[in-house]
Amino acid sequence: MAVSVARDFGRLHGNQPFMSITQSDFRKAMGCFATGVTVITVDQAGEVHGMTANAFTSVSVDPLLVLVCVDHRARTHAHLQARKRFGVNVLAENQRAISEYYARSPGAHQHAEEAGASFDRTAHGTPVLNGALAYLECRLHTTQDAGDHTIFIAEVEDVVVREGEPLLFYRGNYRGIGTPIGSLPQTSEDHEVENPGAARNGRKI
Ligand SMILES: Cc1cc2nc3c(=O)[nH]c(=O)nc-3n(C[C@H](O)[C@H](O)[C@H](O)COP(=O)(O)O)c2cc1C
Repeated sequence: MAVSVARDFGRLHGNQPFMSITQSDFRKAMGCFATGVTVITVDQAGEVHGMTANAFTSVSVDPLLVLVCVDHRARTHAHLQARKRFGVNVLAENQRAISEYYARSPGAHQHAEEAGASFDRTAHGTPVLNGALAYLECRLHTTQDAGDHTIFIAEVEDVVVREGEPLLFYRGNYRGIGTPIGSLPQTSEDHEVENPGAARNGRKI
């Protein structure tokens, strides 16, 4: 059964505003859009700063650009502005505790290892989460203020892809991936990622 959150739909046909939706209505609608889960990592004076984020998407392939939307109140916001370089770690299905850990305020960030988080560093010093399904090394390209968030658009300088299944977020809950529905014809690039082992810049590592 369809549930409508539009309270004043009839006004659509006049010159009145479309309807008055609340933030809760908006969140409910957006929660229907299932996403993966990432942890954005940034070097903060030699320490690892992480933030769970799902407002992440690819933007362009030429040049290679991605974006992440960050709340003005998040500490990560200032760190990204200052460092201008960050990592995007796509979480694997067994990394739910890591997502929960980095969704808490940094005051509660004392025992990352207990959540299963450990890090390496790239040549640029960006923290890479061990065990993530994919890693993207990002250099800040541009920012755009948008309401209470800033859109950080970044150039992707390196990627690492591993075998495994993703952690998903849907209607406020974590999920695993279900069974495939149908199948698309495979491209040669799909085939490369499905080979055993991880791939870095198209090369297996
Ligand atoms: C599944 C999930 C996705 C989230 N996605 C985002 C996001 O895309 N952008 C954002 O600013 N906050 C997002 N958050 C909230 C931040 O993770 C949370 O506010 C965090 O405490 C901010 O940390 P910081 O102050 O250290 O930057 C998300 C939280 C969860 C649980």
